[in-house]
Amino acid sequence: MSVLKNKRILITAGPTREAIDPVRYISNHSSGKMGYAIAEAFLKQGAKVVLVSGPVNIQLQHPNLKLIPVTSAFEMYVACNFHFMETDIAIFAAAVADYKPEIVAEKKIKKAGDEILIKLVKNPDIAFEFGKIKRDNQLSIGFALETNDELINAESKLRCKNFDMIVLNSMNDAYATFEYDTNKVTIIQKDLVSKEFPVKNKTEVAVDIIKEIASIIMQRQFYSSQVIDTSF
Ligand code: PMT
Repeated sequence: MSVLKNKRILITAGPTREAIDPVRYISNHSSGKMGYAIAEAFLKQGAKVVLVSGPVNIQLQHPNLKLIPVTSAFEMYVACNFHFMETDIAIFAAAVADYKPEIVAEKKIKKAGDEILIKLVKNPDIAFEFGKIKRDNQLSIGFALETNDELINAESKLRCKNFDMIVLNSMNDAYATFEYDTNKVTIIQKDLVSKEFPVKNKTEVAVDIIKEIASIIMQRQFYSSQVIDTSF
């Protein structure tokens, strides 16, 4: 896949953590395995990768890798903001918390009474924000993690976040999504043509994903070379 050589890639991976107080947070089960596997697949093709990662237990080192560890969704957004303009392909594989506590208590919240209410406010939707400013020569690839109405929801996210392609994975599939070494994905293109893949190791899923990305780039190159010069 020589079209990926020297491409500048931005990847989000892993979970975010939204602090409640100095000892507690809201998060999810993302291990970062899917995002890191995509990073490795790109690195093997000679691409340059910026990996903005929530807290995970994976080590990855490579001369062409810039790893930016972050904790919260806001930190992830700020780190992506530094790199998005110089990115050719952005992959949003992180499981970002949509909401965070409005107030982070300065001290550990003490047990008192039978109920406690924590008001949550919206986090930035990172993929949505960059979808608004994406240039024609940039590709933005999203993930959809669904529990129901999978295809409908994934297609809606594809449109709403201005993705060029979305990778759907469902919590209803065995050996798929969070924490597993395997995943089962359906890749949906912008024209809504979709391709369903069997359960595979996440390293193989990553290769399937970057092959689809390479074919979008090759199609674009083909069509731009077919533009007829009518200036004579
Ligand atoms: O990390 P693993 O354990 O290997 O698991 C992999 C995975 C299940 C986390 C991964 O395959 C996956 O599905 N990642 C996206 C999870 C998710 O948050 O999906 P979503 O449908 O809620 O979000 C849609 C898209 O918007 C995603 O590309 C997401 O990264 C992005 N998003 C969402 C919310 C937000 N505030 N900012 C975002 O950028």
